[in-house]
Amino acid sequence: MRIVIRIGGSVVASPINTELLGKYAEIIKTIKNDGYEVAVVLGGGALAREFIGIAKNLELDVNAQDEVAISCSRLFAQLFLKKLGADGCSRVATSLDDAEHCLSQGGVVVMGGLRPGITTDTVATLLAERIHAELLLKGTDQNGIYNKDPKKHPDAVKLDRLTFEELTNVFEQNEHKAGIHQIIDPEAVKVLKRNRVKTIVVSGFKPENMLAAIKGKNIGTIIN
Ligand code: UTP
Repeated sequence: MRIVIRIGGSVVASPINTELLGKYAEIIKTIKNDGYEVAVVLGGGALAREFIGIAKNLELDVNAQDEVAISCSRLFAQLFLKKLGADGCSRVATSLDDAEHCLSQGGVVVMGGLRPGITTDTVATLLAERIHAELLLKGTDQNGIYNKDPKKHPDAVKLDRLTFEELTNVFEQNEHKAGIHQIIDPEAVKVLKRNRVKTIVVSGFKPENMLAAIKGKNIGTIIN
């Protein structure tokens, strides 16, 4: 069974959480040893947003802003891949072809960004589609999807289950912007509606949530 694990930059990279990155490496190794084929997608977090800001101040266009942010996420991907050691692919995948190839060789795929105009959420959904993953797990900075933004609305209610169609209604933003932060970005929602890969959104601050979700424990928000 193939699984894509998306680790939010807001979780491991804003600020950089060395301990958590190390724990994720251990969990990913465990999942691989349990017989799963795994691909990991890491976001660029605060560093990516800082570089987007710098690019903006230099009056660079949105494409250039996205490009430097992609490099930041790839830097985290490289770090994580090094930590995986022999379990990981030989280098960070920078295309879906790369990822597919490495997975077929038995390595854990690690990716950051892919191309301008999207976020690593979309990368994760495109990757899941390409490798025919059965499950996409997203570790984020809240413990699931709420009916409205819990940071703005204290009365927001966590949703245990959602259909792909319902996803559009719970989010406010519908267009890509450099540095956008939404539990699942608008482009990714579109891809998910198309490929219908079962997705579970959990708190990324506890890496063991990934194992629990794989084992079918009812945590976070399940989208199917
Ligand atoms: P990330 O996807 O790296 O954000 O996108 P993140 O840090 O994980 O964020 P959370 O935790 O989900 O919020 C950061 C920015 O990098 C550019 C976009 O501008 C995006 O908003 N990016 C990233 C791309 O243009 N293309 C990619 O494939 C990935």
